[in-house]
Amino acid sequence: MDFLDNLVLPQSAHHMVLLKYLLVLTYIILIPYLSILFSSLALSLYFEKRFGKDYKSYRFAKELIDQITFNKSVSFALGIVPLLSSAFCYAQLLHLTRLDVPGYILTAALFFIVALIFIYTYKYTFHLKDIFAFASQKGNDSCPAELESYQKKAARLHKRSGLYGLLFLVIAVYLFIASVQLAADSGSWSTSNNLLGLIFSLKAFVYFLQFIVASFAITSAVILYKYFRNDSISSKDAEYLGFVKNFALRLGTVSTIILPLLIILNVIVKPIESFSYDVFGYALLSLFVVLILVILFYVMLKESSAKFASLLVYLFVVLFAFMIIKDQYAFDTSTKKQFAILEANYEAYQKKVKEEFGLVTEVINGAEIYNGKCIACHQFDRRLVGPPYNEVLPKYEGKQEQLIQFVLNPVKVNPEYPPMPNQGLKPKEAEAVVEYLLMNYKK
Ligand code: HEC
Repeated sequence: MDFLDNLVLPQSAHHMVLLKYLLVLTYIILIPYLSILFSSLALSLYFEKRFGKDYKSYRFAKELIDQITFNKSVSFALGIVPLLSSAFCYAQLLHLTRLDVPGYILTAALFFIVALIFIYTYKYTFHLKDIFAFASQKGNDSCPAELESYQKKAARLHKRSGLYGLLFLVIAVYLFIASVQLAADSGSWSTSNNLLGLIFSLKAFVYFLQFIVASFAITSAVILYKYFRNDSISSKDAEYLGFVKNFALRLGTVSTIILPLLIILNVIVKPIESFSYDVFGYALLSLFVVLILVILFYVMLKESSAKFASLLVYLFVVLFAFMIIKDQYAFDTSTKKQFAILEANYEAYQKKVKEEFGLVTEVINGAEIYNGKCIACHQFDRRLVGPPYNEVLPKYEGKQEQLIQFVLNPVKVNPEYPPMPNQGLKPKEAEAVVEYLLMNYKK
């Protein structure tokens, strides 16, 4: 995506640190949202397909998708905006590399938008199906044939949009994950800057597995929280709520038990360049939080209660934050060289801009000019090619301007010496060196 690269202005080291913080914040919003969206949709499809006849499963399938799609601007704010902003961050951070990570992320964002359209269609046709079912129950036979055909069409659209939504969502997430992994793997930048390499990279695959498992885990916690945070609800439809609780507890327990394996595997497949104490530290912290989660889920499963539901949600936010910070440290360590390049680029750019605006304040140092140009022929106390300064300078005392004129444009003075060649100094330089000489010769 050249157009993104054209937008890039070289950034100072401070700005790049800010951009990295921005990335962390972006992910802390984006990744939990994508996780919950993904598993809500997957579970909704599963329950509708496997147990569609059973009213509890049917209702659960519908509520799952309703809960995550309650508001379109939420999808925009939590999904599309973070995806775009991470593309812009990478355009800055990976500037001057040959990688097209921003381009891949923008492609992922496009897939995500298509996925959202399908997901919303899936949700609306769910309700449409109900309306048709309700209408045909009423035995309204004024136009039953037409009604029936619409009902069929709605059902087909519903089924397809759900599956396509899931497909596009998976592609979007996978592409996104693979791009982020590529960005953090500076060792393979020169070799694998193509889409196929991205898709078939082991790192991307392992990370994707971790995403799926973590997404089922966090979604179980969110379901428990949604349905049981308020005890008064539980009296409404005890059988249905029991079914939901039982399912969420089991799913949560199983997925949090698997999660540590994937976190460890993820650290193992990380590129060597990205290892640091911080990466290990945050991996350990994540494992620790998962351990607490497993225990909480297990206790709740044993008691068949949802008493820790809100604690679970908080812990998952912490867990996701730890995992994201860990990956960001890995990115940081792995891209040290890239940032040195960018910093040098920034300094060169700054210099150029300053020159363009005539802001260069080069410090002219008299001593340096003396040591660089005059010392070959002059010393203060000895004759070399030219006369010793201690001898010739007293006559210039108080006549600084005259001496500057001589240095800028030497004329023949003493027949004992050959003429002094013009040293090609600029007026400011002559001034500086003269000042230096007059201050330093022995009176
Ligand atoms: C290639 C040798 C050479 C270099 C380099 C050189 N000079 Fe000289 N300089 C001379 C010679 C030879 C004379 C004597 C010229 C004369 O008397 O006609 C001289 C004379 C002078 C004098 C005495 C002038 C006078 O009125 O008696 C000054 C002051 C001086 N040089 C300053 C400088 C400064 C400042 C630099 C460095 C920016 C410099 N020179 C570099 C060869 C050199």
